[in-house]
Amino acid sequence: MSITAIDIGTHSIKIVVAKDSKGQVINKSIEVPNKLGMVAPKNDQEILQFSEMISNLFHDYKLDQSDVRLSLPEYLVTSKVIEIPFLNEAELASAIGWQAEQAIPIPKNDLMLQYQVLEKPEKKTANATMKVLLVGSRKSVIEKINNIFLNIGIEATLLETQIFSVIRSLDIQSNDPEAIILQMGTSGNDIAVIANGMFEFVFNSKTGGSLIDGAIAQSFNLDNKQAEEYKINYGLDPTQMEGKLIQVVSPIIDNMIIDLQKAIRFFTQNHPEQKIKRIVLSGGPAAMKGLTEKLTQTLGVEVLQVDPFAGSKGQIPEKNQLSFSVCMGLIARKL
Ligand SMILES: Nc1ncnc2c1ncn2[C@@H]1O[C@H](COP(=O)(O)OP(=O)(O)OP(=O)(O)O)[C@@H](O)[C@H]1O
Ligand SMILES: [Mg+2]
Repeated sequence: MSITAIDIGTHSIKIVVAKDSKGQVINKSIEVPNKLGMVAPKNDQEILQFSEMISNLFHDYKLDQSDVRLSLPEYLVTSKVIEIPFLNEAELASAIGWQAEQAIPIPKNDLMLQYQVLEKPEKKTANATMKVLLVGSRKSVIEKINNIFLNIGIEATLLETQIFSVIRSLDIQSNDPEAIILQMGTSGNDIAVIANGMFEFVFNSKTGGSLIDGAIAQSFNLDNKQAEEYKINYGLDPTQMEGKLIQVVSPIIDNMIIDLQKAIRFFTQNHPEQKIKRIVLSGGPAAMKGLTEKLTQTLGVEVLQVDPFAGSKGQIPEKNQLSFSVCMGLIARKL
């Protein structure tokens, strides 16, 4: 028995097989291009192609099927923290549906709701409130994904939105500094805020890696593949290509910084006595040359990169380790 964690990204599919949820022993780590470029199939044709791709992966890499865990892209899910009057467990269970209807923009009959109490005072007092995390997903889409796996004989033990996996992989403690977790990808970036060891909010920024490839391709008349190579080789290095590449890449990074500043402002508005002190970068694009320095300079906070295999040994990937935090977080979940 082992755990197989799968993160289907637009650019590549990441898979980690680990001995158990401690994640200390890695049996396999795999990264393959997503040749379909999609993360959730919409119609019958796409379902067919998607099933074949998944089934081939299990076959080609002889993946263990006993405990298969899947990541869901953030756009399929709405996560929100709400503050409500103090309720006991039974009261909360009956009130939560109504609360979710107000907070989550998914029609009731398509809503799959999970919730978790984040903060609750010891005793009920007149003004006591509690904080509850709501995670709503579209039942119809989740069922499609689940069925694809069921049809090839796999019942997933866990489907989780990627930002929660990343947060778990970081093992954040309540006395850690207030932080932004920036989960970067090809299609977009998720910006989440954690304070006092707890999730505050997440929102999406459209400034993903493919936007940069597109801008480079257009400016230098290259195809997207070549453009990606330029991006990876030179990034934000001002000495390369007489500074012409950084001129093209910078505006997109600047837009991402504007989104980070929005998150910082939103957090301080709600917690005037607290301050974001750290940004943690995760995902493939987080490896961009010069990015850590650029963020440190413009935002004036400590910027770190994730190290998803810090406590692991075995078949650790040789490259693109930053892309694997989603898988390592899925593995760390105790079921
Ligand atoms: N050194 C680097 N500099 C800049 N970008 C990089 C670097 N290394 C990888 N990337 C980019 O990271 C992306 C791949 O990362 P990742 O595998 O995390 O994305 P994904 O999971 O497929 O995307 P998504 O989650 O948005 O669907 C590609 O866009 C790739 O060009
Ligand atoms: Mg991804």
